[in-house]
Parts: sequence; C-alpha cells; structure tokens
Amino acid sequence: MSERFVKAIKADEIAPGGMINVELEGREIVVCNIDGSFYAIERRCGHMNAPLEKGTLDGKVITCAMHSAQFDAVTGEALSGPVPKDFHGEIPPPRMGQFLMTVGSLMAHIKTNSIRTYATKVTSGIVWVDIQA
Ligand code: FES
Repeated sequence: MSERFVKAIKADEIAPGGMINVELEGREIVVCNIDGSFYAIERRCGHMNAPLEKGTLDGKVITCAMHSAQFDAVTGEALSGPVPKDFHGEIPPPRMGQFLMTVGSLMAHIKTNSIRTYATKVTSGIVWVDIQA
C-alpha cells in the first residue's frame, strides 16, 4: 500500500508537550509534539471515544480526560484502562458516590482498545500525516 501524506498543521502551532486535533479527509486525528518530534494518533479514545486532545500528554503517554485511560502516543498501545477519578480528599455526597460506584462497575466491563497511529513527516515547517488506510 502506498503512502499518501496530507498537510496537517504548521509545526510551530504545536508546542512541545502539546496536542492538536485535525480533520484530514474526514478522519479525526490528533497530532502530538513530543520533544520536537511529531506523532499522529486516532482522535477517539479506545475506551469510550472521548476526544484525546482534551486530555494530557506527558512524555509519550496520553491520558484521556474522561476516565483517565492511558495510551502510548507513538504506538497507540493502550497502557491502562479507565481509573476512578481522584476527588482530592473530598467525599462526594452519598447519592453521588453511589452513582459513581454504579458507573464505575459498568465501565469495568468496557474494554479499552489500542488505537491507530499514522506516520508523519515534517518538511518546510509543515507536519504531514500519511492517511493511507
Ligand atoms: S473515554 Fe477515554 S478513558 Fe473513558
């Protein structure tokens, strides 16, 4: 299968440690800047489809903002499933706590899948992404 690189974004629009969502020919892709190198990964979380650019990028680890599943931004590998939110010592009201326990037990049965990555290249300050299927 041949390559098909399409223009994604200017390299200087993503600071190191940053992520930006781009839509390339109908595909939702997040471009990540990891220490000046650029990587592209499917936008939707492998757990329940949350947009990954709303999470955080620490080194090559993306943490989803929704339930904190983690992914390797370079390989797309799912590193962990969802984890309960840290309430920073706060105790949620009883009914809220019960609701969160129920949601947590339901989520425990939802598999977290690894997600697709795309090859990238940078030429003349432009990040290109190979969207060939
Ligand atoms: S949607 Fe991403 S961790 Fe649940």
